[in-house]
Amino acid sequence: MGPSRLHLAQGTLAALALAAAVLLQGQPPAASPRSDNPLADSVESLRLGGDVMAQRRHIWTAFAEMVSGEEPAFAHWQGEGGVFSAEAAARRPGGIQGFLRPKSIGGDLHLIGAPIIAYNLFNPAAFAHIRDQGLYRKATLDRLQLTGKTGSVPPFPAAAIVIKTAWWPVAPEGLTAMPVWDPELNPPDPNGNPHLGWARVVAVDPANNSPDKTAAVQFIGRSFPGARRVQLEAFHHVAVDAAMAKQFALDPESNRTAILALGRPIAVNDRLALVGINMMTHEQQDWVWAAFWWHDRPEVGPFAADRPSALRGPWRNYLMQAAFDAETPRASDGGAHICFNPWLEARFPDHGQGGGTVSNCLSCHQRASYPAAPFLPVTRGAPNLREDPALAPDRLRTSFLWSLPPHAKRD
Ligand code: HEC
Repeated sequence: MGPSRLHLAQGTLAALALAAAVLLQGQPPAASPRSDNPLADSVESLRLGGDVMAQRRHIWTAFAEMVSGEEPAFAHWQGEGGVFSAEAAARRPGGIQGFLRPKSIGGDLHLIGAPIIAYNLFNPAAFAHIRDQGLYRKATLDRLQLTGKTGSVPPFPAAAIVIKTAWWPVAPEGLTAMPVWDPELNPPDPNGNPHLGWARVVAVDPANNSPDKTAAVQFIGRSFPGARRVQLEAFHHVAVDAAMAKQFALDPESNRTAILALGRPIAVNDRLALVGINMMTHEQQDWVWAAFWWHDRPEVGPFAADRPSALRGPWRNYLMQAAFDAETPRASDGGAHICFNPWLEARFPDHGQGGGTVSNCLSCHQRASYPAAPFLPVTRGAPNLREDPALAPDRLRTSFLWSLPPHAKRD
């Protein structure tokens, strides 16, 4: 090996050591739980123990807490629009009612594979942290990247929760076709498994006055003669008002979703049915992750297991998968742990390490960093410190939040 190559090798090693040091901050040793978090001990043991049933119970409990009120707690949480607004006191209506897509400086993150009405909501602890620390401003991220000591944004409080909600528009009259995810009917496709191509749909029927159990519906050029009829009450749902209709019309992805589902833009009095939630809670430094998605047979299969009786009404119709770790417990194919939401990640294509249907929340979100970096291809398992540009040591880690870099405001 010549001197120049040796030099390069040493440089690479030094860079790797630094990147490793930065990344390892995301992996607290078992012996030192977070001091501000009484739950940290038990959450860390849930992660290390890899006991799927115990992990699921923990997530179901958090979910039940979030949705137990007359309205779910997230109906009062601020969304992307308020979090990333330039004005300090710009509070919007909470929940999906406050829908406002912030302008993105990092290209469009959304239009991959299949459109869906998706909206991120931040609980009060997460919202306050982002606003108080100025993490919604590009100037803050620039300063932290250049002069910060830790290579990361300041740690979120343990109580922070962020969710990504996914909604399907339903017409107030007639039947609206809605795809349903059945893993056995949708084998992994190298080009991704977006919901537009799923094998089965149901017919959502808000009027609910037909004795028939099935109905014939069309969905983007395909006929489904025996689609199961499902009442709107089987979902958590909200009605669209004039302010919402106006904001959806301005958002290309929401607009496209409506055209596909309804054959027209969203209108006042349409309903939005909640079809999926991705949840991250900061109970550990790497957050705790879970996907929830609606199903018409919600009592069947491994993703229905352990659902607590405290969940009531439509909330019993959501399946769930959890991730406390990027690698463990191992998946049934022997590879790293899998946790994905059919509505949000199944669409991702396979570029070598598998597509969205073998993805894991942490494995992707651990790459979140500033300046904005591409989030695809799908990676599986532990971070690739050697080759992944998103993990380069000169980048600012954004505490697993992908939305900070592209939405941070220039001012
Ligand atoms: C291959 C990459 C990838 C995977 C896998 C992935 N996400 Fe994301 N996620 C993103 C990107 C990119 C965004 C930002 C897009 C936006 O503005 O909402 C995001 C946004 C989010 C947000 C909003 C907060 C934020 O800024 O990051 C939550 C919550 C979230 N994802 C949870 C999950 C959960 C839970 C899973 C697993 C079930 C998951 N994600 C899987 C890429 C991914």
